[in-house]
Amino acid sequence: MFPSQEKIMIKRRLQIGFSILSSDFSSLGTELKKYEKIVDFIHMDIMDGNFVPNLTFGPPLIDSLRRRTKLLFEAHLMVANPVAQWKWYAPSCERIIFHIETVKNPLGFIKIIKAKEKGVSLNPSTPVSEVRKLLEYADVALLMAVPPGFAGQKFDERVLRKIDYLRKYINVNKLKCRISVDGGINGTTAARCISSGADIIITSSWFSSGGAAGKMKKLRSL
Ligand code: DX5
Ligand code: ZN
Repeated sequence: MFPSQEKIMIKRRLQIGFSILSSDFSSLGTELKKYEKIVDFIHMDIMDGNFVPNLTFGPPLIDSLRRRTKLLFEAHLMVANPVAQWKWYAPSCERIIFHIETVKNPLGFIKIIKAKEKGVSLNPSTPVSEVRKLLEYADVALLMAVPPGFAGQKFDERVLRKIDYLRKYINVNKLKCRISVDGGINGTTAARCISSGADIIITSSWFSSGGAAGKMKKLRSL
């Protein structure tokens, strides 16, 4: 007897990354210790005041934080020139992610990044089809659910169709790339992203507003 054609649901292990963007910058070392116990990795929002209308931090701060925790650091490069700058983050960040909108030859660029893991990010208005050719070389596709630049913005629902599209594309082509969603995450939007096929969720203001451990537990049970 052949097994029936029941759908076999493969439960992927959800990963949660915490962005320090909404944290109190005067006590980041202590913050990291607090989150070390509950999240899977730390997401570093690097902004240059050029690609995005905001400025955050760079290598000196990340290098100092690197000494405080063993958690994986993910560099989300919201900078106009990642080709020149990615190396600045290679010593401290195991995963380096650039924006497809900032590079003329993204396929050539992703192949030369030397990091344990690498990824590509897409703005909400960038069509998901643009990233297809890169997926073979990417460990992560980071889909923005808000325009990059600030924490605390409203979740853009258009990302759900992108997640669904990528999930199918990745599964059909048996790729290892994971789908990550960044911006506007809370309990409700996280659940929608996960059921659309996301593997990774990034949050900043939702956790920073309090009760992160409980929220985390809820996410894990989804
Ligand atoms: C936005 C950043 C996000 C941001 C998310 O430019 O890339 O990582 O920190 O913040 P929340 O979770 O508040 O939308
Ligand atoms: Zn980010």
